[in-house]
Amino acid sequence: MSLLSENYTLYNGVKIPKIGFGTWQISNVAAYDAVSVALKTGYRHIDTARAYGNEENVGRAVRDSKLKREEVFVTSKLPAEIKGFKETRASFEKTIRNLGFSCLDLFLIHAPWPWNDKGRDCTEGNIASWKAMEEMYKEGKIRAIGVSNFSVTDINTILDNCEIVPMVNQIALYIGHTQDALTEYCRQRNILVEAYSPLATGRILKNETIREVAKQYSVSVAQVCIRYLLQKDLLPLPKSTHANRIAENAEVGFTIREETIKTLDAIRQDFRHF
Ligand code: A2P
Repeated sequence: MSLLSENYTLYNGVKIPKIGFGTWQISNVAAYDAVSVALKTGYRHIDTARAYGNEENVGRAVRDSKLKREEVFVTSKLPAEIKGFKETRASFEKTIRNLGFSCLDLFLIHAPWPWNDKGRDCTEGNIASWKAMEEMYKEGKIRAIGVSNFSVTDINTILDNCEIVPMVNQIALYIGHTQDALTEYCRQRNILVEAYSPLATGRILKNETIREVAKQYSVSVAQVCIRYLLQKDLLPLPKSTHANRIAENAEVGFTIREETIKTLDAIRQDFRHF
């Protein structure tokens, strides 16, 4: 059974489909077909970013799909190296032009620091960017605003200095790397956690324990990984460029029993870094 028509509700009341289609590492050329297939399959939530370089064809695929704009939830992100009030507004305008939309569903600060300077203290820049996001949200240009790759400390900076609590934190999260303290912190503040790389960019698929579970439930390893996240009330963003896998990743209406969830919880391995 596909779960593509089910939603979470953000704390501001905006509905967001429970499974999103990720587009990281999908080129602009490939993004048109991948997103078109995802929309035909029934996905109604597409995740992109200016840094992915594919906003143009993501937008074109959504516009060509014949679906009404309000039927598809689209997320994009402020590039990690762009910080500041004016800079954030200008980057949003570029994103919206790239996509060919008049309004965006969710806009995220891509990371608290530039990718080539991870860990740099960008407190002032993040506060200024967040204030710009708040303003654009109030103007109705964006239906929800959030952050990505933010730690508890990074989120606290926003909460201490700004007005609007982020609605979403999008982080790398998969079996073995569940970021429990951060997820619990977000849950307590009604911040929905989105899981990017739910298959650890594919590296999780060979894990013996998960393969055993998949066999036991007569599903694929990818389906176990995605279903696990949904049972934790997290929002997975699987991506694939193959139509059969795009469909398979949404066929996750089965239930993983509690004792099996515990077996999966016990896996402690950051697959992306092995
Ligand atoms: P492909 O695009 O060739 O299908 P993540 O979502 O964690 O970033 O993982 C994405 C990687 O996992 C991609 O390399 C993708 O390859 C692969 N992938 C996605 N879905 C499946 C699936 N159902 N079965 C096997 N591999 C998959």
